[in-house]
Amino acid sequence: MKFQGSDQYVATADLMLAVNAAATLQRPLLIKGEPGTGKTMLAEEVAAALGMPLLQWHIKSTTKAQQGLYEYDAVSRLRDSQLAGIEGSERVRQIENYIVKGVLWQAFEADQPVVLLIDEIDKADIEFPNDLLREIDRMEFYVYETRQLVKARHRPLVFITSNNEKELPDAFLRRCFFHYIKFPDAETMAKIVNVHFPTLKKDLLAAALKNFYDVRNLPGLKKKPSTSELIDWLKLLVAEDVPVQALQAQDEKVSIPPLVGALLKNEQDLTLFEKLVFMQRNNR
Ligand SMILES: Nc1ncnc2c1ncn2[C@@H]1O[C@H](COP(=O)(O)OP(=O)(O)O)[C@@H](O)[C@H]1O
Ligand SMILES: [Mg+2]
Repeated sequence: MKFQGSDQYVATADLMLAVNAAATLQRPLLIKGEPGTGKTMLAEEVAAALGMPLLQWHIKSTTKAQQGLYEYDAVSRLRDSQLAGIEGSERVRQIENYIVKGVLWQAFEADQPVVLLIDEIDKADIEFPNDLLREIDRMEFYVYETRQLVKARHRPLVFITSNNEKELPDAFLRRCFFHYIKFPDAETMAKIVNVHFPTLKKDLLAAALKNFYDVRNLPGLKKKPSTSELIDWLKLLVAEDVPVQALQAQDEKVSIPPLVGALLKNEQDLTLFEKLVFMQRNNR
C-alpha cells in the first residue's frame, strides 16, 4: 500500500514520503500549508489511489469533538414521546434510536479501512484537538447513554489539515506525523497546471507563470494568490482566448495581467501592484 501521486494530483517526493510514513507509523498525518496548496485534495486523492472510502469531517469554529463521535438527539426523542401512540412509545424508550453517529464512529465501524479527513482543524477552538487525543490514540470511545464501547474494526488512515490560523497543542502534535506543503516552485507548478490544462500552449503557460510569480513575490501583499487562484485565472485566460502577447510586457518589467481579479482579492493589493507597475514605467 504505497501512495505515488495520481493523474489528477501532483505529489512531490517528500509529500509521498510523508503519506507513506504516516501510514507505516499508523499515526495521523498533519498537513499544513497556505490555503490552496492541495491539502484537502491530498486526502481525496490518497483515498482514490488506494481504493479506500473517504470520510470527511469539515471543521467550523463551532464544531465540538463530541460531534465527531456521536450526538444524542434529545429534541427528536421528546417530540416523538409527545406524538407517539402505543406502538411508537417502544421506539422512544430505546435511547439508541436517538444516538446519531458522527464521522469518527462511521470510520470506526466501517468494514474496511477508510481514509478519514479532519479538515481545517485550526478552525475549531483550542480544546478541540486535545478532546480527540484519546479517541485517535486508542481508536475507541465510550457511549455513555447506551453504555457501549465503540472500537475501530480497522484503523483508519487519518489526515488532518491546518491553515495555521492557530497553534496546535503539543500533546496533539506528538501523536501526528507532520508535513508542511511548501508553496510549489515554478517547475512543480507547471506540472500541476498541466494536470488541469493538458493542452495549454507552452508559451502561454510560461508567460502566465511569470505573471503569477511576479504578483506573488510582490513584497507587502496582504493575500498572496495560491495554486487554486492560478488555476481559476488560467481557466479564464483560456475561456477568453487571451493571446500570449497580452501577458508579455515589452521589456522584462512587470505589467498588470488581464483578469487580475482572479489573482488579487483586495483593493490594497491591487493598488500596491499598480503602484509598482507605475514606478517601473517611469524609471525607464
Ligand atoms: N498538487 C496539486 N495537484 C493538482 N492540483 C492541485 C494541487 N495543489 C492544488 N491544486 C489545485 O488547487 C485546488 C485547491 O486545493 P485544496 O486541496 O482545496 O487546497 P487546500 O485544502 O490546501 O486549501 C485544487 O482543487 C486543485 O485544483
Ligand atoms: Mg482545504
